[in-house]
Amino acid sequence: MRLVLVGPPGAGKGTQAEFIAAHLAVPKISTGDIFRSNVSQGTPLGIEAKRYMDAGELVPDEVTINMVRDRLAEPDASEGFLLDGFPRTTPQAAALDKLLADLGTALDVVLELVVDDDEVIRRLSGRRTCRGCGKIWHVEFDATTREGICDRCGGELFQRDDDKPETIATRLREYAEKTAPLVDYYGAQGKLVGIDATGPVEDVTVRAIDALRSYGG
Ligand code: AP5
Repeated sequence: MRLVLVGPPGAGKGTQAEFIAAHLAVPKISTGDIFRSNVSQGTPLGIEAKRYMDAGELVPDEVTINMVRDRLAEPDASEGFLLDGFPRTTPQAAALDKLLADLGTALDVVLELVVDDDEVIRRLSGRRTCRGCGKIWHVEFDATTREGICDRCGGELFQRDDDKPETIATRLREYAEKTAPLVDYYGAQGKLVGIDATGPVEDVTVRAIDALRSYGG
């Protein structure tokens, strides 16, 4: 299955992507994770991406599309993938359609995680991520047993630089202006399915997997 997850910052895309990708046995490809890994390694791509990420703005389309093109050319993505955080603009969506058409294939479905802005702010302000294994936690909704230490691997937890209140506000504006139009873009293709992404994580996963069933997931 070739699947895209779309939803505002903090909707739970990263959290759900892990479960859904495992369920579908496809690789999870997160543009945010790829950018963050380049930032921490200090690569030229990371240096360029960091100034946009720190400001809560989108990295330019050309940079992002080239990065995804390279990632999708890797062998593990040949039979299917879950894209988390890409596409995020209409030009990115059009580029993805073209890229897949050139490979003789197409997206199967786009899953939209629906949550309101107040919930997003609650989720992002309490998010913590493990430096060791990347597992996403929340200080209130999904807390670790020992503060600051990952229950899964014992790694140290950190708070993302772009989870500050002023940056969250910019990210929400960027989403409304540049990414929300994708709902109409994929709706017109008959590929969009939206689910309520509020409530316990496990309930959202069940809703997601149910919704994907009719698309062959
Ligand atoms: P990216 O990393 O993609 O950030 P995002 O879309 O803003 O999404 P988040 O990772 O913040 O949230 P999420 O939806 O994954 O939520 P999560 O599961 O963590 O992008 C970062 C930056 O990179 C962008 O701003 C941009 O600069 C750049 N970038 C990336 N892709 C790009 C692209 N295509 N084009 C251009 N630029 C790009 O959950 C959030 C919190 O909520 C966690 O603490 C979690 O534990 C908790 N939670 C999850 N589910 C629930 C639940 N059901 N109930 C209670 N809490 C929950």
